[in-house]
Amino acid sequence: MCGIIGVAGCGDETLSVVLDGLSTLEYRGYDSAGVALTDETLDVAKREGRLSVLQSALEERADPPTGEVGVGHTRWSTHGPPTDVNAHPHTDQAGRVAVVHNGIIENYQQLRDDLREEGVEFESDTDTEVVPKLIAAALDAGADPETAVREGVDRLAGSYALVVTIAGDDRLFAARNDSPLVLGIGDGAHYLASDVPAFLEHTREVVYLNDGEFATVSADDYRVTDADGTRVEKESTTVNWSAEQTGKGGYDHFMLKEIHEQPTALRQSLSGRTDALDGRVTLEELDEPGDPRRVQFVAAGTSYHAALYGAALLRQAGVPAQASLSSEYATAPAPVSTDTLVVGVTQSGETADTLSALREARDRGAETLAVTNVVGSTAARECAHALYIRAGPEICVAATKTFSSQLVTLNLLAEHLAGQDAGTRKLIPALRNLPDDLQAVLDQSVATTVVDDYLGKESFFFIGRGLHHPVALEGALKFKEITYEHAEGFAAGELKHGTLALVTPETPVFAVVTGEGERAHKTIGNVKEVQARGAPVVAVTDGVSEVQRYADHVLAVPETHERLAPVLANVQLQLVAYHMADRLSRSIDKPRNLAKSVTVE
Ligand code: M6R
Repeated sequence: MCGIIGVAGCGDETLSVVLDGLSTLEYRGYDSAGVALTDETLDVAKREGRLSVLQSALEERADPPTGEVGVGHTRWSTHGPPTDVNAHPHTDQAGRVAVVHNGIIENYQQLRDDLREEGVEFESDTDTEVVPKLIAAALDAGADPETAVREGVDRLAGSYALVVTIAGDDRLFAARNDSPLVLGIGDGAHYLASDVPAFLEHTREVVYLNDGEFATVSADDYRVTDADGTRVEKESTTVNWSAEQTGKGGYDHFMLKEIHEQPTALRQSLSGRTDALDGRVTLEELDEPGDPRRVQFVAAGTSYHAALYGAALLRQAGVPAQASLSSEYATAPAPVSTDTLVVGVTQSGETADTLSALREARDRGAETLAVTNVVGSTAARECAHALYIRAGPEICVAATKTFSSQLVTLNLLAEHLAGQDAGTRKLIPALRNLPDDLQAVLDQSVATTVVDDYLGKESFFFIGRGLHHPVALEGALKFKEITYEHAEGFAAGELKHGTLALVTPETPVFAVVTGEGERAHKTIGNVKEVQARGAPVVAVTDGVSEVQRYADHVLAVPETHERLAPVLANVQLQLVAYHMADRLSRSIDKPRNLAKSVTVE
């Protein structure tokens, strides 16, 4: 996820309007930033690091960039580490076309190969660089600027919000597919951005672009067209947000925003990695797997719950696998040999316990792999291999979208390591449908009703069996982390071995049960046990299981592949935790005593 902006009609203020806009978009990515301002020529400036690094560099320039139009970008790396060269805007060889992009161009490798054959050279590792080069090729072939942009965009597969500026042209060209892009209508000026706050200081009148639409924007006019070039009449909307809300894209908290970003996060995690036609998973970052090996996961907190899930997937596929808490593994590692792959699951890639466990494993001769969200993080640099979950930046201390993206990416890794078969072919359509299923959970959840009924209860228990066990643990962790109320997660069959003594009418039990069969049947038995002690039961279920007959409340999830039901069930529990914390007026985004990245052991 990245933040993009384009402005037309700001005269001498172009640079400051672009930079101010970028500062409100930094929540979308902050590992590098860049701008391009255009008049008869392009003036491009970009730097690795936070926006402030770019701002300082521009302040030092005797001749800061000027132009009637300008574009800007703040980056969250997906292809290539955060460096000056990989920062956006990207340009063509002659320096006529500059492009800022948010999304992932899935067919960039093929396009690069095609362009290279025509003699085009590339300087960055990014997927984006093909875009200005395609547009330049069309210009060279005689196309006018607008046609050249369309022809370039027509060749792209994947997700994109793009803003393009061309030297000598006072218009901006924009296109959208699966990544947000909004147009702002000002007084003698127009704006394009990933999110409204980027131009809210200048206008509240906005037009939301849809997938497949193009926009041509100048200081005093804008035109939106569909993929065929036919004009689309768009209605503008007046946004009425408070300044405080804007950095959160209109949500009250980053946590809620990030919960709602999950369909997009999952699309990014999956982008270009599954092929529905040949029924295979491809992870470009990793070597072709050799013989199945022993796999040990190390992780902490929420990432440990993802690791438990990943290990269970591999065991189901016949690969010996286990998950350990990083802090334990670091001082008491499991035996490793040269055929052991140790996988560190870490959103930040900076958790001291996990780095320590990975170093211990590496020193003992194991091969290491980081499954992380942060390109260029310590874990990514120190491990032999890195696999990115591509969730985009997560600001709230409580992990939400990164957990979902970890579960999805671990499914891909399990297929990669275990050898792909007919099971992979069956999993892929369900994976590709998962973002829509998750959206349905967000649209239909009745978590607030559940929360209202159980405000003030003494303790909250979460149970699940098999792949739902990590979800029960994660549901309880999220709940206590942001509500400060007591919560515990258990394997469903374990409750009766002690904790049942605490179960009363004052202790709601959240039971995650989907599908039918032995596991679901046994968990329903555990539900009856708690119900017999008077505990209210909330079933998180897909409607296939008959658990709803015994439940006081049902939090429904769509039916899906049994391996993916935990992803959807977890979203309901995220919403329960969020709304309970909100009712209790807790500090949701920064819970007491906690930090986003725990860099001490
Ligand atoms: O960055 P990591 O995934 O390595 O962080 C590990 C834990 O500190 C983290 O998952 C923590 O438990 C979550 N922020 C809790 O929501």
